[in-house]
Amino acid sequence: MALRKIRIMGDEILTKTCRPVTDMTPRTRTLVQDMLDTMYDANGVGLAAPQVGILKRIVVIDIGEGPLVMINPEILEKEGEQRGQEGCLSLPGQAGMVTRPNYVKAKALDLDLKPFEIEGEGLLARAICHELDHLDGIMYVRFVEGELFDVTDEEAQEEPEDEWEETEEQEESAEGKDA
Ligand code: NI
Repeated sequence: MALRKIRIMGDEILTKTCRPVTDMTPRTRTLVQDMLDTMYDANGVGLAAPQVGILKRIVVIDIGEGPLVMINPEILEKEGEQRGQEGCLSLPGQAGMVTRPNYVKAKALDLDLKPFEIEGEGLLARAICHELDHLDGIMYVRFVEGELFDVTDEEAQEEPEDEWEETEEQEESAEGKDA
């Protein structure tokens, strides 16, 4: 397991547009594994490559349903609206209210660069939108309604990772996690 340093808002790399991945190399596989390790270690639900200083179009997401790796992802469809609290590992300790589509359909490549499509609702739709924005240098703070507010993630930290269940209550606690 290798952890990478998470870049914090203010770092110029978080404002850059990332390049597509054109071939799968051992180095890129290692990057993806390190991104997953770094996301889990930070107790986040998503992480984009620029957040660890790499300008490649790669995101990892886990809303409690297992790891999702998306390479060169693109949103194909968006529907509906959800308004909810959003945070980011690149802005620890803060959150804000953001309106996102309640449903998205996206396409991406997997670790073997094979194309796949995924549909997400609720938190997954939110996480996909949030992470894909990072690939174009966009932080969620651009969309925050009202002020950012301070949050503590003590509750999230105390929650053991192996106790993810699909209950309302725990979905809510995933909701408060950073991406
Ligand atoms: Ni983020």
